[in-house]
Amino acid sequence: MTVQIAKPETASKTEMYSNLASQLRSLLDGERDFIANAANVSSLLYHALPDLNWAGFYLLKEGELVLGPFQGKPACVRIAMGKGVCGTAAQQRQTILVDNVHEFPGHIACDSESNSEIVLPLVKDGELLGVLDLDSPVFGRFNEHDARGLNELASIFLDHTEIG
Ligand code: SME
Repeated sequence: MTVQIAKPETASKTEMYSNLASQLRSLLDGERDFIANAANVSSLLYHALPDLNWAGFYLLKEGELVLGPFQGKPACVRIAMGKGVCGTAAQQRQTILVDNVHEFPGHIACDSESNSEIVLPLVKDGELLGVLDLDSPVFGRFNEHDARGLNELASIFLDHTEIG
């Protein structure tokens, strides 16, 4: 299978996420395996979105977040609920945007190149499954448009994927 990843440099964020949503639906079409789909989501995001140095999943296992499929440098494997940006987003079940990770209390530095971050909780049928985490070397890389677009992509992933 050959997958073409369009990288529309000039499109607005809204257009870009709408384009990515179409690409993601095609990419996941006919496949429901959680790990396979999560791996392809992280690859699509990492390669299609500008200025990222890490994109991937932490999955909730026995009360803590455990590293899942990702793209980028090797990362810390386990994050306790409430710790770091990931554990905070998971505990609060809220998307967290961090313009400057060095100012976030308890930020866990996996890659020293990261300067901003966005973490989205993955919730299906009221159950917390984990988080989707994106890091950038650019300060203030993520805004509300990214939060909205990425939440839409996350729900496409959850709708197309077998849980459990
Ligand atoms: N920075 C995250 C840890 C995960 S890495 O960024 C891949 C945090 O503070 O939770």
